[in-house]
Amino acid sequence: MRIDKMLANMGYGTRKEVKKLLKSGVVKVDDIIVKDPKTQVNPSEQTVTVWGEEVEYKQFIYFMMNKPPGVISATEDMEETVIDLLEEEDRVFAPFPVGRLDKDTEGLLLLTNDGQLAHQLLSPKKHVPKTYFAIIDGEVTKEDIETFRRGVVLDDGYETKPAKLVILSAGLRSEVEVTITEGKFHQVKRMFQAVGKRVVYLKRIQMGPLSLDPTLALGEYRELTEEEVEQLKQYVPLDTKKGNLS
Ligand code: URA
Repeated sequence: MRIDKMLANMGYGTRKEVKKLLKSGVVKVDDIIVKDPKTQVNPSEQTVTVWGEEVEYKQFIYFMMNKPPGVISATEDMEETVIDLLEEEDRVFAPFPVGRLDKDTEGLLLLTNDGQLAHQLLSPKKHVPKTYFAIIDGEVTKEDIETFRRGVVLDDGYETKPAKLVILSAGLRSEVEVTITEGKFHQVKRMFQAVGKRVVYLKRIQMGPLSLDPTLALGEYRELTEEEVEQLKQYVPLDTKKGNLS
């Protein structure tokens, strides 16, 4: 890739600014000063430094966010989005949310610029389980557990795949954990609506192999560790037989 593109991708400024940086002689590739913005570099084999500091090139970036309520899971909107919560230096990677949480839903949201992995995680064929903690207005019962286990018919006639419902406490308000393997619009809320109950609080606590990091306050995020990225990739392997995405 061209050195100017690489440095611009890594947040060293616009292409124009990077050109100036190169001209000033502070960029080296394998210890040789490089001034031509068209110079081709292979970031995985060559060492690029700026002001003597190594540029650690990352093509893909993966974040886990504890999404706060009141923020939209989109890259652009009239209202505040999860992207607005990212530091400027992280936004240069152009990450996007992997799927959506409702505006009032909190919790685990992955953000990445790895379109292929995002596609795999969201593919209905992969059945990636998502677990939510919910507070329900109404008493959740054993019958509800059974109904969810069989699949719930939603308001539009769609019958959901079996879902796991665990009652943590039951009363006028109940606390539950529910695990679904699909991502229909407002799915958890509509599943409870189908059994005559209302979700008053919803938080995603798990997605596939990843649990929400308890040290992340609402609105905070962190990069996934290499191990976590590996776990995700192994969870949704590419369908190599077809040689493409499944
Ligand atoms: N189900 C919902 O109803 N809302 C969400 O945000 C996620 C799952």
